[in-house]
Amino acid sequence: MTLKVNAILDQRLRPLSDLRISVTDRCNFRCGYCMPRDIFGKGYKFLKQTQLLTFEEIQRLVAIFTEYGVSKIRLTGGEPLLRRDIEKLVQMLAKLEGINDVAMTTNASLLTRERAEQLKEAGLNRLNISLDALDRDIYQQINEINVPLSDVLNGIEYALEAGYSSVKVNMVVQKGVNHTDILPMARHFRNTGVILRFIEFMDVGNHNDWSLDQVFTAAEIVAHINEEFSLEPVEANYHGEVAKRWHYSDGAGEIGIISSISQPFCGGCSRARLSAVGELFTCLFANAGFDLRSLLRAGHDDQVIANRIGQIWRRRDDQYSEVRSSQGGSAPSSSVKRKVEMSYIGG
Ligand code: GTP
Ligand code: 5AD
Ligand code: SF4
Ligand code: SF4
Repeated sequence: MTLKVNAILDQRLRPLSDLRISVTDRCNFRCGYCMPRDIFGKGYKFLKQTQLLTFEEIQRLVAIFTEYGVSKIRLTGGEPLLRRDIEKLVQMLAKLEGINDVAMTTNASLLTRERAEQLKEAGLNRLNISLDALDRDIYQQINEINVPLSDVLNGIEYALEAGYSSVKVNMVVQKGVNHTDILPMARHFRNTGVILRFIEFMDVGNHNDWSLDQVFTAAEIVAHINEEFSLEPVEANYHGEVAKRWHYSDGAGEIGIISSISQPFCGGCSRARLSAVGELFTCLFANAGFDLRSLLRAGHDDQVIANRIGQIWRRRDDQYSEVRSSQGGSAPSSSVKRKVEMSYIGG
């Protein structure tokens, strides 16, 4: 493919380098902060199979994105392991010229040893696994499902055994809900090779009744861990990295803190997001996406689609978290409208 495109900058001079792709809006968990049961219950209308981008359509779009400099892909959901033959998609993306990192964010409950190995073989480099508590009652209370905690812990073990270049565990910390599990999680994952990341609870979507006083801030998390284990800050791996990195001073490994609330990082945000139906979102907190699927299905050639992507990115001006922060934690006025759901856009 020879397209007439070049690296592009948005209105805040941010390049486009990462693409997060949601492959399904379904999940087998019902985390209260993401897919509360009263909304995502029996009557909820999930996307139909025919609405989803096919693997061929995703591959074609990703190839176009690489022409703008996208080299990192993250597959998300809902729960990406629910998408049938996801290994095949990984393989189709990993082999594209220009793609040097294919990662996945999953709850790992469906990650068998065999699947962890197959995904690795298909070209998946890195796995980020969501786990908010080790205490069984808290885990159950947050996830609201009957999937045993041991399934997730086994999934993490299989990921480590399969030899991924990194395995991270994401813990969303909610004050008064699971902050008491910060130290147990730290103790559990020290010296295992897992990078445990603590995530400040965010106001994504429309249903999690977020308020600033439920946020256990990055500073509080570091101070809390420091009471038991001494921590030292580490340089970022690359400009715009989402998590701030820390090492245990005794050499027991690395942790990360994602402080979208107390220290927003919009200035370095080079991430675009593609929904399972092919809408391009320029921010996690956007109200709407831009439909690329209809361009694909109308039979336009790559150049037309590339031009549209370029136009969308050049006009991009998003900085939701920084505006929220400058307003003392209250949401920007854009969010008076409905925001996209976390399970629809994949975090
Ligand atoms: P790495 O490449 O391993 O650093 O992945 P990541 O941290 O970008 O991805 P992951 O899916 O593990 O996300 C961890 C947390 O960071 C989730 O809560 C995401 O919603 C949040 N996050 C990721 N990107 C952004 C972003 O652009 N803005 C905000 N506000 N949060 C983000
Ligand atoms: N705040 C912070 N992180 C969240 N996640 C889901 N909802 C929220 C929220 N409201 C996390 C998930 C997963 C990642 C994609 O986003 O736990 O690890
Ligand atoms: Fe599913 Fe992840 Fe949302 Fe929990 S946070 S409901 S595991 S998509
Ligand atoms: Fe990027 Fe929007 Fe997150 Fe800011 S709030 S870092 S612009 S996705």
